[in-house]
Amino acid sequence: MEVFDSPEAARAFVSALRSQGRTVGFVPTMGALHEGHLSLVKTALSCDAAVASIFVNPTQFGPNEDLDKYPRTLTADLEKLKSAGVAAVFVPTRDQMYPDGFSSGVEPPRISETLEGVCRPGHFRGVVTVVLKLLNALPVSHAYFGKKDYQQWRVIEAMVRDLNVGTRIIGCETVREADGLAMSSRNRYLSDEERSRALLISKTLQHVETAYRAGERQTAILQNHMQQMLLGENIGHRDTATPETSPGRRLDTLQYASIVSSYDFTPLATIDRPAVALIAGMIGTTRLIDNRELGQTDV
Ligand code: PAJ
Repeated sequence: MEVFDSPEAARAFVSALRSQGRTVGFVPTMGALHEGHLSLVKTALSCDAAVASIFVNPTQFGPNEDLDKYPRTLTADLEKLKSAGVAAVFVPTRDQMYPDGFSSGVEPPRISETLEGVCRPGHFRGVVTVVLKLLNALPVSHAYFGKKDYQQWRVIEAMVRDLNVGTRIIGCETVREADGLAMSSRNRYLSDEERSRALLISKTLQHVETAYRAGERQTAILQNHMQQMLLGENIGHRDTATPETSPGRRLDTLQYASIVSSYDFTPLATIDRPAVALIAGMIGTTRLIDNRELGQTDV
C-alpha cells in the first residue's frame, strides 16, 4: 500500500490508474477508523482500485469543538486500510492542505443551512472546501460517504452537482454496534453510563420507523414522540402509540429531532415523499448524531 503526503504524488498515482481506463473508489476520513469506515472501503473495492485519505480537517471544527482531542491512531489506521486491500492512502499534513497564504473556500449549498449547519456554524464550509480539495488532489471516479452523516452526504452530493465535479458520490448504510448504537470515532469518549444512555437515540429512531410503517405520516406527532423519548417530557400523557420512556435515562441536551425531505432537507408537515428523521444531542460532553430514512429514497 502506498502512503502519500503530497497532493501531487497522490494525483500522479490516481491519474495513472485513470489513464489506463480504471475506476478508482475513494473514501475520505479523519482517521480513528472503525467498522463504519471499513464498510465504505469494502464498497469502494467494487472499483478497480480503492484509495483513502486520513486528515483531521481543522476548518470543519468550531472554536469550542473537539479538534485538539480528536482521536489520532495513524499506525493502526494504516494497518486496517492495508488489510482491507486499499491501494494508496493520502495522509497530508495541515501545512500541505492549508499552506501559508491559503485563503479560498467553497460556499456550501443551501441544504447546508439547516440542522447541523445551524448547530455548527462554518462546519459545512470546512467540509465542502476540504472535500473539493481532496477530489482535486485525487481525481477519482467514485467517492463513498456514510449515511451516518446524512446531511454531510447530501451537502457533498449537491456541491459536486452544482460545481460539475466529475466524481460519482455514493451514500453507504450506517454500520451499528450489535445493540444499535451507530459507530462513531466519538463513541470512545462515552463512559459506561453515558453509552447506555446513548442507546436512546437509535431506539427513538427505531420507534419512529415503526410508527411510520404503521401508517403515521404527521411529522408533528412523530417529532413530539422523539422529544418525549429523548427528554422524557409529557410522560403522563401516554397512549398506545406513545413510546416508553424510562426516567433518568435521557440526553443531556437535545439539539434537534427533526423529520425533513431526505433529498433537499426541506421541512415536511406530512411525510408524502422520501424523508429522514435526524437526531443530534449531547450525552455528557460528547455530541452524537444519528438518523433513519423513512420511505424510498431513490429520487
Ligand atoms: P469521518 O468522521 O472520519 O468519517 C469518514 C466517513 O465515514 C464519512 O463519510 C462518514 O459518514 C463515514 N462513517 C462514519 N461512521 C460511520 C458508520 N457508523 N457507518 C457508515 N459510515 C460511517 O466525515 C468525515 O470524516 C469528514 O467530514 C470528511 C468527509 C473526511 C471531511 O473531512
